[in-house]
Amino acid sequence: MTSISHPRAAVILAAGQGTRMRSPLPKVLHPVGGRAMLDHAIDAAEALGCERIVVVVGAHSPEVRAHVVKRLGEDAVAVQDPPLGTGHAVRAAEAVLGDFVGQVVVTYGDVPLLTAADIEPVFASADGVTVIGFEARDPGAYGRLVMDGDRLLAITEAREASAEVLALTACNSGVLAAPVGLLFDLLAEVGCENARGEYYLTDVVELARRRGAPTRAVFAAEDAVMGVNSQAELAVAEALFQRARRAALMAAGVTLPAPDTVHLAWDTEVGGGTTIEPHVVFGPGVRIASGARIRAFSHIEGATVAAGAEVGPYARLRPGADLGEKVRVGNFVEVKNVRMGEGAKANHLAYLGDGAVGAGANIGAGTIFCNYDGFFKHRTTVGEGAFVGSNSSLVAPVTIGAGAMVGSGSVITGDVAPGDLALARGQQTAKTGWAARFMETMRAKKAAKT
Ligand code: UD1
Ligand code: MG
Repeated sequence: MTSISHPRAAVILAAGQGTRMRSPLPKVLHPVGGRAMLDHAIDAAEALGCERIVVVVGAHSPEVRAHVVKRLGEDAVAVQDPPLGTGHAVRAAEAVLGDFVGQVVVTYGDVPLLTAADIEPVFASADGVTVIGFEARDPGAYGRLVMDGDRLLAITEAREASAEVLALTACNSGVLAAPVGLLFDLLAEVGCENARGEYYLTDVVELARRRGAPTRAVFAAEDAVMGVNSQAELAVAEALFQRARRAALMAAGVTLPAPDTVHLAWDTEVGGGTTIEPHVVFGPGVRIASGARIRAFSHIEGATVAAGAEVGPYARLRPGADLGEKVRVGNFVEVKNVRMGEGAKANHLAYLGDGAVGAGANIGAGTIFCNYDGFFKHRTTVGEGAFVGSNSSLVAPVTIGAGAMVGSGSVITGDVAPGDLALARGQQTAKTGWAARFMETMRAKKAAKT
């Protein structure tokens, strides 16, 4: 990013009702790539070096307010009540920005794909109003950019536009930047005598030009500026986001034989030389080192996987799963909040929750860490090189010592010392010839009936 010559602030509009989402969750809190759209907008503002970030929220959504307060603090919130248009929304931030001096950029909580790199050109000049425009495939209801060469003369909303202006395909993304003093001086002049009876932010362009202040447009890709208004548009944004993230991973050397089937999160980190097989889903908080293999149909969130490890097919790694080098976690194994040391194995059908598995330990098929007593969670520790036989229940809190063995089918309720064998299951008895006699009797009974 270029050096920042003027202090920057961002005003992020998020006061819309989002009724077309038809969801009890406020629109801007809907996720793209596992992260709320509003957080993507805040991320971009932070990456632009904005020293002040103000989110304009409506009185109708305390959840949005709480979300902003949690991430940025109380003084990042401005309330617009009632919502009287985009210009009115930006004015709601004036008092909160206080004595800030510098450039203000206006962005949107429902435009999740717009990155700092896309926005950066809007700061190219520091003396007037600069708008981010785009060439629309279908200009529809967007505001039109009326240009004279490089100069932006006005933004005309579709409802107010003549047929000639409606034919223009250069449209307003809504994002603009201006020096703080100029912006609020202009907004104070904006009226609401228009088709919607709203205070239009877009009116500042013509007002600036009349004052002789420079007015410009810079252009971004239509996909980058897309806004989300419905569940269908949310899915389009998600698809665009996924495509970009998959391309970035492949460019970094990750092998994705079927990229369209792999679902990534905003923060998924994967080292080059790792293979992600088809139909793997990543939730947030996953780091995978180089040279690992994530096999098909695995679900991974909040987990760390070291080099050379193999996960799946059909594995589930939940938050706190921390797999060391060359660990193997196989089909239908769930791991949560467990550190597995180098070379440890749990290859089939197991639940490992809350604990640690030492290097080289082998967890047999069907082993369960019984971590929950109905009230509290407890830890299970399996020492290095230990061997836990199939279908064992390890009732936490419990420790299996290094190099110890647990007999298959055991219910282990007490610690096992290093090197010991623990057996905790019914004794086997043998009744000589019993089965043969039983079957003969039953066969005879059945034959007599038919
Ligand atoms: C706006 C622009 C239009 C542009 C389009 C891009 C204006 C007058 N028009 O139109 O030129 O092409 O966006 O999508 O600015 N909001 C508030 N408070 C309000 C009104 C809106 O916070 O009182 C927020 C909304 O939540 C939304 C955004 O501002 O995120 C845009 O508002 P919207 O009413 O959708 O504007 P458009 O008519 O689409
Ligand atoms: Mg809109």
